[in-house]
Amino acid sequence: MSVVPAGEAVELLNSKSIVAIPTETVYGLAGRIDFPEAIENIFATKQRPSFDPLIVHVADIQQAKACVSDWNPALQVLATDFWPGPLTLIAPKAPHISDVITAGLDTVALRCPNHEVALQILKKMDQPVAAPSANMFSKTSPTSAAHVESEFHGRVPVVDGGPCQVGLESTICRITSIDESQQYCEVQVLRRGAVLPSDIQRKLNAKGWKVTLIPAEKNVIAPGQLKIHYRPAIPLVLVKDNSLSDKDIVNKVGHQVDVQNIQWLKLNESPALAARTLYSQLRELGQAPATVLICRWSKNWTGEFWQSIEDRLSRASQIVL
Ligand code: TXA
Ligand code: MG
Repeated sequence: MSVVPAGEAVELLNSKSIVAIPTETVYGLAGRIDFPEAIENIFATKQRPSFDPLIVHVADIQQAKACVSDWNPALQVLATDFWPGPLTLIAPKAPHISDVITAGLDTVALRCPNHEVALQILKKMDQPVAAPSANMFSKTSPTSAAHVESEFHGRVPVVDGGPCQVGLESTICRITSIDESQQYCEVQVLRRGAVLPSDIQRKLNAKGWKVTLIPAEKNVIAPGQLKIHYRPAIPLVLVKDNSLSDKDIVNKVGHQVDVQNIQWLKLNESPALAARTLYSQLRELGQAPATVLICRWSKNWTGEFWQSIEDRLSRASQIVL
C-alpha cells in the first residue's frame, strides 16, 4: 500500500516528490509549483502531453493572487463566493508560474478545493501545488484512494480522504471581457461541472454585475479538453435514441464492440448523486469479464447539471447512438 498520512504528504511535497491528494471533485496528482522536477514528474507519471496545462491549487484567495499578474473584481466575487469549491478560475499568470504548468499559455488556472484534508495540506505548505486528476492521460478520473492505487499500481503515494463528494472535475471559467466602470463582464465556461453557469451569473448579478454568458456551443475549447477523455477500461456506448430496444442496440454496435458480456450502466435520478458515483460505476462495471458498458440517456435528464454529466459521458463513450 502506498497510502500516506497528510503530514507525510506535506514532507514529501516539500522534498520535490509528487503525491496524490483528495479533493471534493476528484483525486489530484500534486507537485509544488516551484519544483520543475515535480512538475515534469506529474506529466511523465500520467503520460500527459505537454500541451495540456495544469490547475494550480491554492489554500486561499491571497495565494491565488500571488500567482497572477492581474486579478479583476469579477474574479474576486467568484473566488469569494465559490471558494473553497469546485470552480477553477483563469487569470493572467505571474512571471514565476512556469510555462510547463500553463503549457505555454499566458494565463493560469486556479482553484481552492473544498476538502478538509486538501486544505490542511495546502495550508501547511508555503507554496501552491499543481494537480491534474490522478489518472493516466485520457482515462477515467479517480474518486477514491483505491482508484488512484489501481491507476498507478501503488507507485505514487496517496492520501486517503475518502470518496469524493462531487465526483466530476471542477467547472472552469474565465472572464473574457470586463468593464469595471459599468460593472459589466462576459463569462465563458470552458468546462462544465457542479458549479453551474446560472450559479456564476446569479452570484455576479447579486453583487451588481451585469453578465453575458458566452453560450457553451460557442465555447473555445479549453486546451486538454479533448473529445476522447475519461475513458473506462472497456468500450462505453451511450444511447440517446430512446426508440431503440436492447436488441436494436446490440445489433447496431455488435460489429464494432464485443457484446458477449454487456454491463448496463444505470445513473442515479438525482444529478448530484449521478455525478458522485459516475466514475466509480465506470471503473467497477468496466472490469472483466464485462466486455462493453451501455448507458441509456433518459430524456428527463435536462438542465445544466445533467449537461455537465452528459459532457463527461459523451467524451468517455466510444459510440453514441
Ligand atoms: O476538479 C478538478 O479540476 C481536478 C482536481 C484534481 O482539482 N483537476 C483536474 O485537472 O481536473 P485536469 O488536469 O484533469 O484538467 C485540467 C484542465 C486542462 O485539461 C485544461 O483544459 C484546463 O484545465 N486548463 C488548465 N489551465 C488552463 C488555462 N490556463 N486556460 C484554460 N484552460 C486551462
Ligand atoms: Mg483529468
